[in-house]
Amino acid sequence: MVTLNHTKVKELLTAEPKGQDVTVKGWVRTRRGSKKIAFIALNDGSIVHNIQIVADPAAFDPDLLKSITTGACIRATGPLVRSAGSGQPVEIQAKEIEIYGHADPEKYPLQKKRHSMEFLREIAHLRPRTNTFGAVFRIRHHMAYAIHQYFNENGFFYLHTPIITGSDCEGAGEMFHVTNLDLNRLPKTPDGAIDYNQDFFGRETNLTVSGQLEGELGALALSEIYTFGPTFRAENSNTPRHLAEFWMVEPEMAFYEIKENMDLAEDFVKSLVRYALDHCRDDLQFFSKMYDPELIDRLHFVLENSFIRMSYTEAVEILIKSGKKWEFPVSWGSDLQAEHERYLVEQHFKKPVILTDYPKDIKAFYMYQNEDNKTVRGMDVLFPKIGEIIGGSQREHRYDYLARRIREMNLPEKDMWWYLETRRFGTAPHSGFGLGFERLILFITGMTNIRDVIPFPRTPKNANF
Ligand code: 4AD
Ligand code: MG
Repeated sequence: MVTLNHTKVKELLTAEPKGQDVTVKGWVRTRRGSKKIAFIALNDGSIVHNIQIVADPAAFDPDLLKSITTGACIRATGPLVRSAGSGQPVEIQAKEIEIYGHADPEKYPLQKKRHSMEFLREIAHLRPRTNTFGAVFRIRHHMAYAIHQYFNENGFFYLHTPIITGSDCEGAGEMFHVTNLDLNRLPKTPDGAIDYNQDFFGRETNLTVSGQLEGELGALALSEIYTFGPTFRAENSNTPRHLAEFWMVEPEMAFYEIKENMDLAEDFVKSLVRYALDHCRDDLQFFSKMYDPELIDRLHFVLENSFIRMSYTEAVEILIKSGKKWEFPVSWGSDLQAEHERYLVEQHFKKPVILTDYPKDIKAFYMYQNEDNKTVRGMDVLFPKIGEIIGGSQREHRYDYLARRIREMNLPEKDMWWYLETRRFGTAPHSGFGLGFERLILFITGMTNIRDVIPFPRTPKNANF
């Protein structure tokens, strides 16, 4: 461990106040007081709460005190004592204050008042210093840690799948191309097409939309693996649930069929919710106080209920029978929209729902084909407020079925030779799913826009910072 000459606010707030000298470093949230006494609320991001520093103006240079404005970075040293005020357990009686960085009150954009989320997105370089974003990013950290812990404890290996690939896992063509060709002088083949032979990789490449295909290769050797990394989609969806760059957690398991896949998905998300309740109390209380009074109840609710499991076909019947007027009409064969998913979860069942056995034409090529020749063993996990939080399936492990489906869908069979080979050599039933990490964070924090649960969101027409 590194020895530091200062102590984190989080530790100070639970330390025994015995008048011992302590040093704290952080950013000023507010300074208030009178000629006789100054109170500084300081935060260092270790916890949502601030520590109070009390200073006697007579003991300090007036110019120094004047510079202690919202946003300034300071060090304070002095005895830690029980606080006389009711707002906090302890406070520091400053003997020394040093200013590391000023923040001109005329110019610093984060003054002590409620700012709109839209405004805060424009200053994403500073918004980590707000209580809200501090709490979001701490919870992101804890959830990432809990994910690795869960899989490690359950015998899964973390497999690093590539970011740059030549494949399109979802087959939706929503990819960002990766090239180092000069876009103003593209090399052409004799028939006028772009000559990717001259590109960096000697072929067309793109940013991955999912690590699944490579994850399957790992599962068919290590049995249970997961990948957790950034994924990219050039889909023009300007919604509060879509990002062009998001993080996905994708476990892939040999010898799991759809039932075990659902069991894992349910146990996994429940364990993450439990971890948040156990380890992120202060931040969850902050969100429930400031944004969403039902948040903590909703988290318990997910933990305490078994998820409903039913087929797409049954769900469509419920939606049609509901008699509701939908923005997107429902009929067998159409893809479910957020409004349908949320109706099932929030109004009809009032529980998380796992839907399975979707029409094959609205799902990707790799899903296991059912006997009915119409549906595939896909599964979507639907959550209150979020809609789809997980998408997955049992995989088609039978060579003939898979090869036929690839041909039917006009996918580039010659590029998929390596994927098909796993079905020719030692194939095995297997399954997996993808959890959208930001959708999880939306659920855990109760935030309503996905742009506010990732430090630097990438959306159509926006890649600042
Ligand atoms: O349902 P999706 O597209 O499934 C796959 O990519 C599979 N290959 C996963 C697998 O089986 N290994 O995406 C999985 C999840 C969705 O349920 C959603 O939570 C999230 O990823 N997701 C997005 N999150 C934010 N922005 C987007 N544009 C997203 N697209 C999908
Ligand atoms: Mg999906």
